[in-house]
Amino acid sequence: MTPVKGLMTREERLNPFAFFQNMRETAPVRYDQDRDTWDVFRYEDVYRVLSDHTTFSSNRNAVLRSNQSSDNASLIAMDPPQHTKYRNIVNRAFTPKRVQDLAPRIEEITRELLDAVEGTGEVDLIREFAGPLPVIVIADILGIPAADRHLFKEWSDKLVESPHAQHDEAYQASMMEKARVSQELGAYFKKQLDARRVTPGDDLLTVLLEAEVEGERLNEQQLLSFCLLLLVAGNETTTNLITNAVRAFAEQPELQTKLRENPDLIPSAVEEALRYYSPVAAIPSRFATQDVELGGQWIKQGDQVVAWLNSANRDEAKFPNADQFLVDRNPNPHLAFGWGIHFCLGAPLARLEGQIALKAIIERMPNIRFKAGTELQPVTSTLVFAVKELPITFDVK
Ligand code: HEM
Repeated sequence: MTPVKGLMTREERLNPFAFFQNMRETAPVRYDQDRDTWDVFRYEDVYRVLSDHTTFSSNRNAVLRSNQSSDNASLIAMDPPQHTKYRNIVNRAFTPKRVQDLAPRIEEITRELLDAVEGTGEVDLIREFAGPLPVIVIADILGIPAADRHLFKEWSDKLVESPHAQHDEAYQASMMEKARVSQELGAYFKKQLDARRVTPGDDLLTVLLEAEVEGERLNEQQLLSFCLLLLVAGNETTTNLITNAVRAFAEQPELQTKLRENPDLIPSAVEEALRYYSPVAAIPSRFATQDVELGGQWIKQGDQVVAWLNSANRDEAKFPNADQFLVDRNPNPHLAFGWGIHFCLGAPLARLEGQIALKAIIERMPNIRFKAGTELQPVTSTLVFAVKELPITFDVK
């Protein structure tokens, strides 16, 4: 992706909030010629883009009247009525009860991962904990054998990797690698699905195979693309929710004290972490279906619109003391999971994992600080708000 002006240096990427504030004040809806997109920065406008799916479509092919069929598209790139039907089917796999039933298993995985590091007093939180946790959870839910987990982690990491510039060799190589990984993963899922057609299991793959709305089921291609979406949409984001929260705890140690004294505030701290350091910095894929006015600018039919969640979530017009991390903020109508018809399907699962993980971290890792000499590095993609590693130290009990 072509870099975003104002978000180029390490410092800007780690702390983009002054840039976003400036944009909200001076150019809340701006056209960026280099990237050929509109950037939207204010809460009110981001909310409108996400809510009005008739004007701001997720389906590039339909809007650009491309000849490419969108039949095999991923849920995230569909518009109604296709989106509504498909989402109703996959919703069956993510009911609140189904997700809540996962709590004991997520607690167990959390315990095992933390047991391995608790005595050491220092850890790269991503490598040892926040990276593996969501991968193990989703592999478990899908019914993937434990012996294949490492493959899963590799595949899922490769799929979300994003090099910097769109035209350089590294970009081409990475796109080819992604295509290869998608194929490998597709073949793997196909084998797993075939096995469940013969012997159904008590797992998400079986639920997806059997889920039916108005007599319709997902076809093979739709099943495979949904499985891929779960990995791409669910793993790195949840890793970054946990890591970004702990980054804030290390930067502001008083948050740790407050949460240790009031563990009941953990769910609200998770919401605040989602707002304060939103893991998905921006939703890049909305396309105007007609000429439309937004924030005083005319966006033309077919233009691409990028909705900056990380800016909307710091908008003072919506959040008093927006630049403060308030563990008990209420209300907290953040947009970290998006909004409208594409609102994150995995939000209940991500919230549950975040709550269980942060509760355990606060309990078992007292006095978290950055390891001496740490220089945080932002991840390469500007659309993701996260660091590459989070080396921390903590007191050993
Ligand atoms: C959609 C964020 C975790 C599955 C989205 C969207 C956002 C988002 C912003 C909206 C995209 C759009 O409007 O184009 C997050 C964050 C997460 C997280 C911040 C973690 C903290 C998960 C998990 C799963 C998941 C754990 C599944 C296991 C999905 C799916 C969609 C989606 C399937 C597409 C929904 C649709 O198009 O109807 N997510 N997500 N996400 N997310 Fe998440």
